Amino acid sequence: MTTVTLQPVISGIQFFADRVSKLESREEQLLSSSWSNGIGDRFYSFETAWFAIVSGCRLMRGRGGLHPIEQSPLLRVEGLKKVFRSGEADLVLFENLSFQVNKGEMLAIVGQSGAGKSTLLHIVGALDRPSAGAVYCAHSQVNSLSEDDAAEFRNREIGFVWQFHYLLPEFTALENVAMPLLTRGQALSIAEQEASSWLRQVGLEARGHHRSGELSGGEQQRLALARALITKPQLLLADEPTGDLDGRTAEVVFELIARLHREHQLTSLIATHNLAFARRCHRVMRLDQGRMEEVAPESLPA
Ligand SMILES: Nc1ncnc2c1ncn2[C@@H]1O[C@H](COP(=O)(O)OP(=O)(O)O)[C@@H](O)[C@H]1O
Ligand SMILES: [Mg+2]
Repeated sequence: MTTVTLQPVISGIQFFADRVSKLESREEQLLSSSWSNGIGDRFYSFETAWFAIVSGCRLMRGRGGLHPIEQSPLLRVEGLKKVFRSGEADLVLFENLSFQVNKGEMLAIVGQSGAGKSTLLHIVGALDRPSAGAVYCAHSQVNSLSEDDAAEFRNREIGFVWQFHYLLPEFTALENVAMPLLTRGQALSIAEQEASSWLRQVGLEARGHHRSGELSGGEQQRLALARALITKPQLLLADEPTGDLDGRTAEVVFELIARLHREHQLTSLIATHNLAFARRCHRVMRLDQGRMEEVAPESLPA
């Protein structure tokens, strides 16, 4: 079989066209033009290839379709070190951490309390600076941004969710979700429209005019997710997002994170103590005594 390689737009991503003859599924009927090698073999259409490219390479058109065999990294961490000075002594939290996260991956960061998970998320999200090393994310070198540029980077690229949601309790659910758009200077009517749509996505459409302080813990965390994602960030950073919730509510919130991750083609880093949730992520990294090791998700308890 002849293979056609398309490398038109995004560097580092290759698509291999597969023969149309293998592809009789419903989706393939969408093809409107196809490629030929001149001896009768037909290949996937350019339209489909383009569709896969513009959709960020995550939309697989069936197993026989175009395979993104190498996804581009959204996040690259190189030789990261963080030292906190406490009194006379230095606390070296981690040193020489290097890893990367591809677009579309949902990555869990596990490790004991005090291991440095939150600090790592803060550095990746430009809320803190490393003592050494570099963080590259979505075309920015995060660790060397000025304060203004870091704020702009956070606003544009990052959605944060914390264990304690930090909602504004006196404001309504709708206002809390609309807030990031309003601080960007978006018109009120558009921000509220967008916020309503997000309230629907997290199942809180009936609570829009309730003050956020009146909502339950699980509802507040769902609201925090809507607020984190309304700006359409590429990267979701969640720090113990279910840590303050009971088991059943935690499950609902985790499921919601997983669904929104999928539907909005996010890349997500989730620090969690919950190994059963970590197991359901694409990848798991354990931070332990300053080192980061990759753990097979299926090796974790269900
Ligand atoms: N600003 C700070 N100054 C000094 N020590 C800090 C600071 N922030 C965190 N630490 C210390 O770094 C360690 C790791 O903290 P953290 O990143 O919150 O860990 P984790 O999220 O894994 O529980 C803890 O021992 C904590 O006390
Ligand atoms: Mg923490």
